[in-house]
Amino acid sequence: MPGMSIVPDLLAWYGRSARDLPWRAPDVSPWGVLVSEVMLQQTPVNRVLPAYAEWLARWPDPSALAAASPADAVRAWGRLGYPRRALRLHACAVAIRDRFGGDVPREVEALLELPGVGEYTARAVAAFAFGQRVPVVDTNVRRVVARAVAGQGAAGPPVTTRDHEAVEALLPADPSAAARFSVALMELGALVCIAHRPRCADCPITADCAWVAAGCPPYTGPTTRPQRFAGTDRQVRGRLMAVLREADASVPASDLEVTWDDAVQRDRALTSLLDDGLVERLPDDRYALPSGLGTQPETTAAGSSG
Ligand code: ADE
Repeated sequence: MPGMSIVPDLLAWYGRSARDLPWRAPDVSPWGVLVSEVMLQQTPVNRVLPAYAEWLARWPDPSALAAASPADAVRAWGRLGYPRRALRLHACAVAIRDRFGGDVPREVEALLELPGVGEYTARAVAAFAFGQRVPVVDTNVRRVVARAVAGQGAAGPPVTTRDHEAVEALLPADPSAAARFSVALMELGALVCIAHRPRCADCPITADCAWVAAGCPPYTGPTTRPQRFAGTDRQVRGRLMAVLREADASVPASDLEVTWDDAVQRDRALTSLLDDGLVERLPDDRYALPSGLGTQPETTAAGSSG
């Protein structure tokens, strides 16, 4: 079967070369894995490391975060970007406390019921926290499989079911070996089988790589364009959020106005933050991070004064 000899070589390489990251420690909690996966989805490892350490020191389990306010979560999210993830992680903690007795659930189906937990995160937690044999497919894994197995230079647009099947076909039968193989595939994609100028000379599976065997043909299929940041509404949202994070409580509209000259774009960004529940409008044209009042539908107000 194509690709089957990849497993031992990749596992051996992972044993020698993997980065020592806190969410891969043998004693990491399922909550630690979940937090890391949400943070890592759209933020590079080196920026996640300090925020992850602070987050887990402050909220070592889901119930601790559920007792905090959404504003505290957004503040602690700091400059990781895409701050809706902070709100979703908070909502996720509330759901884990209220529906799962405070323990992160084990099964993919249950994980998928949690707010903000999608196909990738559910499988990553099932595999990395609970050692289950499920395919874990992120961008890096898709690229490695596209090259090593399909002989293509890049993965093309994602197709969830097909991508899961392609990775599942590679997984060793033993669940904990499968989980370790999944993180090894990810690591290879992050460190060696990178998108541009892959380091094939350092790759443990070049001898089995269909793309190398084909002479590394250039990829000619559809691509997604890299997102620009400067000048976008996302940049304006970031500026507005920075002002609100640094304020102890609320700020007047004038504090937000100085962040960006183009009033139309600034208002659009602020409206989107209000719509996302990341910002609240208070009386007298003041603004604040979300207090969480009215955002705790999963519990009765009594006893949850956190
Ligand atoms: N280890 C486990 N999951 C990871 C991820 N998403 N990024 C980097 N390292 C990881």
